[in-house]
Amino acid sequence: MTKVLTSYGRPLTKLRVSILDACNFSCIYCMPEHRAFDKSDNYLSPEEIGAIVGNLIPFGVEEVRLTGGEPTLRHDLISIVEKLSTLSLRKISMTTNAFQLWNFLPALAQGPCRSLNISLDSIEQTNFKKITNYDGLHRVLDTIERARSLDFKVKINMVVMKDLNHHEINNFVRFAEREKIEVRFLEVMNIGVVRARFQKWYYSGHEILRQIENEFALSVVPSSADSTAQNFVTANGARIGLIASESMPFCGNCSRLRLSSRGILRACLMKEGGRDLRGVPFEEYGPLLHEVAALKPVARIKDIHEPMFQIGG
Ligand code: 5AD
Ligand code: SF4
Repeated sequence: MTKVLTSYGRPLTKLRVSILDACNFSCIYCMPEHRAFDKSDNYLSPEEIGAIVGNLIPFGVEEVRLTGGEPTLRHDLISIVEKLSTLSLRKISMTTNAFQLWNFLPALAQGPCRSLNISLDSIEQTNFKKITNYDGLHRVLDTIERARSLDFKVKINMVVMKDLNHHEINNFVRFAEREKIEVRFLEVMNIGVVRARFQKWYYSGHEILRQIENEFALSVVPSSADSTAQNFVTANGARIGLIASESMPFCGNCSRLRLSSRGILRACLMKEGGRDLRGVPFEEYGPLLHEVAALKPVARIKDIHEPMFQIGG
């Protein structure tokens, strides 16, 4: 089976699988005022997820990241991971806000999903509540500690917004040093509800680095060609990442595909449309994948009205 390449010649090796659109948090930059989620009957079942991912592997998919909404709101999360564990994938990981993760950790620790990207935009209790609309900081911090004690590889993702949490950047660097945990700073992207306030909230990667370098000496750590992050290490050995999707887009090196909770295979976060894979027999995957690969943009698309929780983070 031949690998499917993008128009700029990259194999599509990484698949983000959104397993539902619902979320328990209402992050100020993600959830619209009137929250509405899909009916759970419409979500792909663990069997369907296993079958679709299995069919994509011969075309080059090697790694799967589970996303949402919030993946831990799926009661059958462990069954989904079990289905994936039977496939020959190089890596299975998950992005989560960690609030409901605690009870899943012992079962997850038995399986192949050992890498967790935890979204954490504030380590101040009141600010955490302001950003997420949820009083959950302590539980998230306790869960991070438990995950690490169970040997999960944990990275923290902080979306930086001017006047909301940019004052916390260096506290996050101190947190990274104290806890010996990798922290990645993300530029807020011009997606969904952010669009109306993008100019107000946007804090560039350049500003983020300048703020850190006022206090910390950073050395560059090389990263892979398709990496979204620029990596650094502080003099005290803390690993820091910068994901500057707006000011330094990495579209030309992207090797990612996205599968929505309803089974639509999508070429890019910023690109509407895609191809429905639910119930599609393996023989039809080749042509469909070439169509999706052709939808992949080379240059960054400016903005998109669909919210992140629907597209899959
Ligand atoms: N810009 C950047 N990151 C975002 N996320 C959600 N919306 C945005 C946005 N507009 C992040 C969440 C989480 C991941 C799923 O996506 O904070 O880390
Ligand atoms: Fe939920 Fe993530 Fe959106 Fe926050 S950013 S509301 S945690 S999906």
